[in-house]
Amino acid sequence: MQLRNTPVDEIEFLGHQVYVKRDDLLDVAFTGNKARKFYHFLQQDLSQVDILVGHGSVQANSLYSLSVLAQLKQCQLYYYVDHLPQYLIDNPQGNYRAALAQGAYIIVVDSLELSVIEHIQQQVLPRLAEQGQRAVFIPEGGRCQYAEMGLKILADEIKAWAAAKSYADIRVVLPAGTGTTALFLQKHLPFEVQACACVGGDGYLKQQFLALCVDESLHPTIMKADKKYHFGKLYLPFYHIWAQLKQTTNIEFDLLYDPLAWLCLQREFTIANENTAAGLENSDNRPILYIHQGGLQGNETMLPRYFRKLSFVK
Ligand SMILES: Cc1ncc(COP(=O)(O)O)c(C=O)c1O
Repeated sequence: MQLRNTPVDEIEFLGHQVYVKRDDLLDVAFTGNKARKFYHFLQQDLSQVDILVGHGSVQANSLYSLSVLAQLKQCQLYYYVDHLPQYLIDNPQGNYRAALAQGAYIIVVDSLELSVIEHIQQQVLPRLAEQGQRAVFIPEGGRCQYAEMGLKILADEIKAWAAAKSYADIRVVLPAGTGTTALFLQKHLPFEVQACACVGGDGYLKQQFLALCVDESLHPTIMKADKKYHFGKLYLPFYHIWAQLKQTTNIEFDLLYDPLAWLCLQREFTIANENTAAGLENSDNRPILYIHQGGLQGNETMLPRYFRKLSFVK
């Protein structure tokens, strides 16, 4: 299983050069940031562990990766969700289907008083302990200090790449959900990390950074989007930029996170091109390294949704 040392491709987007760190080319089950965030667990001896306890969305990429981790380590995965659509139960697909095939238990938390995480902490973990089951709790999307180990390795690869290119300064761009990947990269890089908030907006992302690191001087910069986009909803500009990138670069990005980061870059490059046309200097000429964080498994369910929407629009 390849868990490190991914190549960097060079692509052109709106006349601008962008380097892409191809973490999507890591292992199929652990592509992108899952390989980095779960590196600690993948390397660890979990023979004393019976159950991995996780939670999050029923179509999360991390659900599938956790189910494979549990299989590899010969333990059971209990994965808690707050919602499981009947349609999906009747027609399993995407990460949900893949995780079921790995033997994951997906459990709906049906509580009006407790959130999923409270339910796990107050009820599930104590009950498992009482039963003598040894459990490891992995917070949603790997948002925990354990993620730091694998992300430091990614930061080291980035530093080595910049040194080999003789770049004294670069900027690292990536879309964020829980912000874990961006935060630990920033902590271990001498370069600016710029992340856009795909889930819950800028305020939510800031809170996520603070939960992992109180020192704000170590936080990534938050890139501004042109408007508020709701996570998981379909937006035609998302699909169009995704399709444009696929066609012009031959690289497939994910449809949930990547389009927003590319829209931010598109906005920036458009302004830069206007400046150049007007004979003005652009202030930021640092090379850009974009982190491809995988997640293509999720495209299996996103693409049919977009095709339905597009046929509706025509
Ligand atoms: C494809 C992809 N990109 C970006 C992210 C966001 O990563 P993070 O939650 O570490 O900010 C995720 C979620 O883990 C993801 O699956």
